[in-house]
Amino acid sequence: MKILMVCLGNICRSPLAEGILRHKCAQKKLDWYIDSAGTGKWHLGAAPDKRSIQVASKHGIDISGLRARSVHSSDYEEFDIIFAMDKSNYKDLMSWALDKEEENKVKMILNEVYPNEDKSVPDPYFNDDGFQNVYEMLDKACDKIIEKYA
Ligand code: 4NP
Repeated sequence: MKILMVCLGNICRSPLAEGILRHKCAQKKLDWYIDSAGTGKWHLGAAPDKRSIQVASKHGIDISGLRARSVHSSDYEEFDIIFAMDKSNYKDLMSWALDKEEENKVKMILNEVYPNEDKSVPDPYFNDDGFQNVYEMLDKACDKIIEKYA
């Protein structure tokens, strides 16, 4: 499986999702390729937000070496699934898909936990307290992703 995690800045939510899923794949000896990207371009080349690094580290996961990039058109061919963190990411990703096959790869990540509810992972950028909550949501979602696709 090749899975791309996508949020707005690629510094808070999607690097955490990437780190968590990669960590679980290593534990389960799953040879998956996991990456993350942002729909926006403000933080290209930047390390994850300190608060994401911190919450990941608290759970034994090191995401400090990740660097932000934006979504590329080639991602739709390369990846099997492209997970959007929120509705706005989903809308952007769907608008850039070139055909039905590419559209079908785009999914809301929390639908893995709450099917068809289209819940969003809240953007924690302006909320210091939001990171632990985001971590827990993504941790649950990544368990479901492995359950479903491994
Ligand atoms: P992310 O959070 O999409 O989870 O990486 C954000 C990071 C930066 C900004 C917004 C959201 N920003 O506006 O710069």
